[in-house]
Amino acid sequence: MIKKLLIPFLLIITAGCQNRSLDEVGLITDKAMVVSAHPLASSVGNEIMLRGGNAVDAAIAVQFALAVVYPDAGNIGGGGFLVLRQQDGSVDALDYREEAPGDAHRDMYLNEEGEVIEDLSVKGHLAAGVPGTVDGMVQLHEKYGTMPWEELVQPAVLLAANGFPLTAKEAEKLNENQDDFITYSTRRPEFILKDNWEEGDTLRIPDLAKTLARIRDQGRAGFYEGATAQYIVDEMKRGGGIISKEDLANYRAIWREPLTAKVGEHNVISMPPPSSGGIALIQLLTISEDYPVDEWGIKTTETAHFMIEAEKRVYADRAKHLGDPDFIDVPVEGLLEEAYIKRRMRDFSMDSDTDSEEVYAGKPAAYEGAQTTHYSIVDPMGNAISVTTTLNTNFGALVFVDGAGFLLNNEMDDFSAKPGYPNTYGLIGGEANAIAPGKRMLSSMTPTILEKDGDLYMVVGSMGGSTIITTVYQIILNVIAHDLPMQGAVNAGRFHHQWEPDWVLSELGALGPGTGLQLWLKGHKIAPNPRGIGRAAGILVLPDGRMEGGADPRGDDAAAGF
Ligand code: DON
Repeated sequence: MIKKLLIPFLLIITAGCQNRSLDEVGLITDKAMVVSAHPLASSVGNEIMLRGGNAVDAAIAVQFALAVVYPDAGNIGGGGFLVLRQQDGSVDALDYREEAPGDAHRDMYLNEEGEVIEDLSVKGHLAAGVPGTVDGMVQLHEKYGTMPWEELVQPAVLLAANGFPLTAKEAEKLNENQDDFITYSTRRPEFILKDNWEEGDTLRIPDLAKTLARIRDQGRAGFYEGATAQYIVDEMKRGGGIISKEDLANYRAIWREPLTAKVGEHNVISMPPPSSGGIALIQLLTISEDYPVDEWGIKTTETAHFMIEAEKRVYADRAKHLGDPDFIDVPVEGLLEEAYIKRRMRDFSMDSDTDSEEVYAGKPAAYEGAQTTHYSIVDPMGNAISVTTTLNTNFGALVFVDGAGFLLNNEMDDFSAKPGYPNTYGLIGGEANAIAPGKRMLSSMTPTILEKDGDLYMVVGSMGGSTIITTVYQIILNVIAHDLPMQGAVNAGRFHHQWEPDWVLSELGALGPGTGLQLWLKGHKIAPNPRGIGRAAGILVLPDGRMEGGADPRGDDAAAGF
């Protein structure tokens, strides 16, 4: 029966036209580039570098600008991860992920019968983790910034105070969420002063401008103490949330050692736990080394079948082994051991799919000791930064902090509310990702930098919840195996498998003619995703030293540079 129902879907997918060109070349610049989800944010970052700032200065300015012009995911009420590579080749990673509040506990989303209460971890005050963005940016600036902090926050203050024109997509998203904003916020937020937003309308957020001005003038204290902290705690009291003044005062972003792995002729630099992104991406790229993906070609049955089967195995590992390394033992080395990774494909067959029920997490070597948005930046000195930041789903918990003008995240849903119970992205987890006070929820964010022959080669990342990892994986393969330009690689249709549920999610036209049918004959179940998978931002360094941007046509994304 299911198979019968799938046939029309397959036909759509197979026939679906891919109107985004794979040959398209993006903006080419000589010295510097920013690719972000919004043209205004990209131009803020570009302007900072024109004034002599480095990639870190630009990244800080872009983070705050996105908090204004891209409120679905840009934020000061959320968190993120970033990986950077300095011109001299040294690398670093910053975890500014949200944390569970001190009063959180493992069963906080369960009713008396032990069942998960629907939406409690997704919408409303209890869904919010302690925000990490502002401390992250402050620490980033202290360690690597060169321009005065005030100058990096000021463009966002001006955007919020003076207003900015809404794009058609943003107007539509604000309109779609009006009812939820009213339901989940305790006071009427600035986003719903108008009934029906239209493209070109000016959105001003005066309370956010004041909060950003406090951050500009007082740094960390402008958010985690004083008026802003009081607004957050008052909002929590009104809405039944649990973030306290102590939670805010205690929050600190954490510098972590990035994961690095040599895969073929590339060196991959990516995010360690509490993101699963780096481990999963390195596993996928390492597996891919043994298969002739370049010969099979893009959008073919062989390539798609192989990638889907690799993804199942990698996501099974994710569900079992990964969580916050400050709370559980994550077997990072075992999971990244080449022999272990390759063993995972032992039962792979080119002829048929392996049911997810038959795919189990592997047993890596013993434990040792212990709506998101991505932007990529390269500066004229050759420093590179790859940043993924989020409120989790679009507009986060849909809770505005009254008086402070910003939205809170709903990142608590990235924890496992109950073993085996799927979160918003259908991801399941267990003990490793159970809720505990002060713990950071497992993420899929995959800010990544690639080197080739020891030189900077690519800066890439994406939004998309569980599909982030496979989006980044696919884009990298599109460039290194299929020789697409950066823009074409970002344009290319995407498909995704995450072990459970046992479905291949596929954009229209992501598979070549007949490929959908061939995959179905091998046993794959395909679900079309017309809304699109991931939204990526990439920069590729060309052999002559210039660079090409890949801005995602799925959104308003834009590249800027000089
Ligand atoms: O950290 C994570 O994996 C998720 N909170 C990311 C959310 C996301 O990408 C939303 N975009 N669709």
